[in-house]
Amino acid sequence: MIIAIDGPAAAGKGTLARRLAAHFKLPYLDTGLLYRATGRRVLDAGGDPSDPAVAESAARSLSAEDTQRSDLRGPEADRAASQVASIPAVRAALLDFQRSFGRTHGAVLDGRDIGTVIFPDAEVKLYVTASAEARGMRRWKELQARGVEADLATVTTEIRERDEADLARSAAPLMAAPDATRIDTTELDADAAFARAMEIVGAKTK
Ligand code: CDP
Repeated sequence: MIIAIDGPAAAGKGTLARRLAAHFKLPYLDTGLLYRATGRRVLDAGGDPSDPAVAESAARSLSAEDTQRSDLRGPEADRAASQVASIPAVRAALLDFQRSFGRTHGAVLDGRDIGTVIFPDAEVKLYVTASAEARGMRRWKELQARGVEADLATVTTEIRERDEADLARSAAPLMAAPDATRIDTTELDADAAFARAMEIVGAKTK
């Protein structure tokens, strides 16, 4: 079984994906990490994350260790991820890895184009959203928990800007697949979102 979870930044995709993966004993791939690690490699080399040739070569030389770095979250990494993610050659370079990850044993994957591009035939497609205010608050609390000083208004503005870039790009824009079921988590905590997702999975797989 493939469970595809897409949606805007900080909507609760990762938390939900991890819980579904644990429940169904499926491998989980946070595909955002691939774009984050690509952006980070470009920054490390002193390059510009919006330069297609540099970003593609970083994506092609990605290793497992790159995705385990501790510096993949934060404003700079967020922006670089979104910039490299708008480059078609970067997306093409990361496509096979994502497909083969799910092909053998099934998987839960979260990102922006899982239900539309990576696994258009996924058994279950969820589109997880929440208001920008709720998402800003969540990301701000995550940063606080990690001891990172941040301003709530700035965090919320950066989330809105990244959403706009992800929605407006021509390469695999953020979009709900026509057959995806939406879960708005503005008023749902992690348990309630999981319960709702389990109902949807049950209905789709019976
Ligand atoms: O955790 P958060 O929702 O803030 O972001 P993420 O899922 O780690 O994704 C970081 C950035 O990578 C996004 O803003 C997208 O630009 C890009 N991305 C993408 O284009 N396609 C994916 N499948 C996953 C992430």
